[in-house]
Amino acid sequence: MSILLVRNDNNYKPWLKAFAKHPEAPVIVTPQTQHNPEDIKMILTWKAPAGSFTAYPQVPAIGSLGAGVDHLFDDPSLPKDAVITRVVNDKLSGDMQEFVLAHCLNHIKNLNIYATTQNQWNPLPYKRVSDIRVGILGLGTLGQAVGGLLNKVGFTVMGWSQHKKNIATIKSYTTTELDLFLSQADILVCLLPLTEATRGILDKELFYKLPQGAYLINVARGAHLNEEDLIEAINNEHLSGAALDVFDQEPLPVDHVLRKFSKILITPHVASVSNPESVVPQIIENYKRLIAGKALLNVVSREQQY
Ligand code: GLV
Repeated sequence: MSILLVRNDNNYKPWLKAFAKHPEAPVIVTPQTQHNPEDIKMILTWKAPAGSFTAYPQVPAIGSLGAGVDHLFDDPSLPKDAVITRVVNDKLSGDMQEFVLAHCLNHIKNLNIYATTQNQWNPLPYKRVSDIRVGILGLGTLGQAVGGLLNKVGFTVMGWSQHKKNIATIKSYTTTELDLFLSQADILVCLLPLTEATRGILDKELFYKLPQGAYLINVARGAHLNEEDLIEAINNEHLSGAALDVFDQEPLPVDHVLRKFSKILITPHVASVSNPESVVPQIIENYKRLIAGKALLNVVSREQQY
């Protein structure tokens, strides 16, 4: 009985090092390693190539090595009965909190603008955290963590989610209240799961419901964003700029149009990256539960796709 690891980036070394501390859960890497598919009890992947699950129709559990699971549901070979899990981890949440806070502060103190105008002396009016309302699209684990820190720092924080949440530090809006939520968001942070309902949600229609001069931070998935609509809203000065960490095509090609705008700050999908040492213990716990016939932790709903 073993665990199969499949990653699109072939970055296995740190994962194998972390798993080596848990000999009770033998791990093999990539489907190319000789093995009997029936021995595989759990497949752990990060953006496995499409079709990676074809040989394992009966595998009991499939886990994402990150917080997002869209890469699993995108694969038609995903076995229909496997339990799907994802990573929920304090380091992932903490890294996302710090990354979004850094972007919010950069934006209100104009640091992004000064970084692109190093040869000028052009003092600009700046804002304070107490002036700014941040709207978070998606109030799951990461959205709530980010909102909590922004509130602690002094921002006014609102969140939008499928179901209203009762969180003392974040004013919660639900699906029917999207327009009201957007009309107050000076900074909009996208932390939604990527599903059929949220694909392309960051479009023209949504941007023009934000206050004039609003700023976008997308740390969810590239497919949430309509890139052309973003460029138009920035060119029309409706949006003051954007920080994008995720893209439809990754790595983002060097000549990509998004790179041509000084008001768009591009980072290479680094907001919050799974740390093998801290993530492997929860995988081992799930493996033990699986072998013992117990319910797994961090299970994803197939219906909701998050
Ligand atoms: C990163 O994008 C993740 O889903 O963990």
